[in-house]
Amino acid sequence: MNNINRKRSEKLLEQLALNGIIAWLRGLEVHRDGLTWNRFSGSLALVLVVLLFLSGAFMTFYYSPAPGAAYDSVDYALFSVPFGEMIRGVHSYAWNILLVLMGLHLSRAFICGAYKAPRQLVWVSGVFVMLVVPAFIITGDLLPWDQKGYWSTHVRTGIISSVPLIGDFLVRLLQGGPLTGIVTLTRFYVLHVIFLPIVLVILIIVHFHFLYQRGISAPLSGDDAVREKVPFLPNLVNRWLVLFLLVTLTLGLIAWIWPAPLGNPADPTDTSYLPKPEWWVLFLNKLVAIFTGSLMVIATVIIPGALVGLIIALPFLDRSPERHPTRRKKMMLVAAIIAAVLMGLSIMGYIEHFGTPHP
Ligand code: HEM
Repeated sequence: MNNINRKRSEKLLEQLALNGIIAWLRGLEVHRDGLTWNRFSGSLALVLVVLLFLSGAFMTFYYSPAPGAAYDSVDYALFSVPFGEMIRGVHSYAWNILLVLMGLHLSRAFICGAYKAPRQLVWVSGVFVMLVVPAFIITGDLLPWDQKGYWSTHVRTGIISSVPLIGDFLVRLLQGGPLTGIVTLTRFYVLHVIFLPIVLVILIIVHFHFLYQRGISAPLSGDDAVREKVPFLPNLVNRWLVLFLLVTLTLGLIAWIWPAPLGNPADPTDTSYLPKPEWWVLFLNKLVAIFTGSLMVIATVIIPGALVGLIIALPFLDRSPERHPTRRKKMMLVAAIIAAVLMGLSIMGYIEHFGTPHP
């Protein structure tokens, strides 16, 4: 940029009162060893969140949150709006990939001991981010008002009502009546497009705040004391932009070739419809099939609650400074057993729901 252009852009920033923000961003520094491509699961998750927000915002231009109109508005956007099918597909693929990516991001942080001091709060804030994503999926599932979304919500509210003491209250609060209806759709819509995005953005800012304050962990073979820093602008931002372009193009192409399916319109009288569980809740589904009747609370509250509690408390339970996975064999073994049990339950759930041969 020549001098005249630089002066012009600085004047513009000053007039827009943005120069303070730019100066602050220019002052930020990140560790150079955090910029390698094998440490980009977090950045990729960020890019997916942005893409989810953008594609979701586009869809709200056409979506109408009322039972009589929701399905038709989605159908119209799919087949009559340019790129409608692609945008809906990108939205749908993005949350599936985000779930996988958060699992990988968490696993990497666990294997490399990145949850240990001084990064305990980076880990804890990350777990809270992860807990918000299923709420997005559950509320979003109902919005197209198709058979799958409607009856999956029915199953989920049944599961929520099994929570002792507060279950029925929670269901009433979510449903806004005795059945999944117009108030439920309005509430899920507001949660999905206003409330949850605000919560997610705040939690991601908190995650980044702690990350910036404590710094990304040094490579396992590296020396924590001698680490070079580079400016955040443009080093990291350039990579985020490259990732954003790559992810958008890839998902756009995938969604163009394989659009996300839209089932038949919801029919609340069709009680014979049995929704298939999503891949990420197969283990919970299997647990619910094992612990039935009065024991259901073990599957719906006790086991998931204990697992989440254990993950949140991990940095405070495991206080040893050792980060190398080969010198934390017990930890690795416990995690491998938990992962194997979850995987085993998911496979059993899959076979139960999808694996039976058709007559
Ligand atoms: C939308 C969700 C999330 C976003 C956008 C995000 C973003 C990021 C970014 C950009 C980094 C720095 C680079 C990297 O290590 O990849 C990071 C680091 C970290 N994140 Fe996340 N994160 C998310 C979810 C999570 C979850 C679910 C956890 C696990 C509990 C977590 C725990 C951590 C930890 C411990 C670090 C530090 C890694 C290190 O120092 O080596 N994050 N996150």
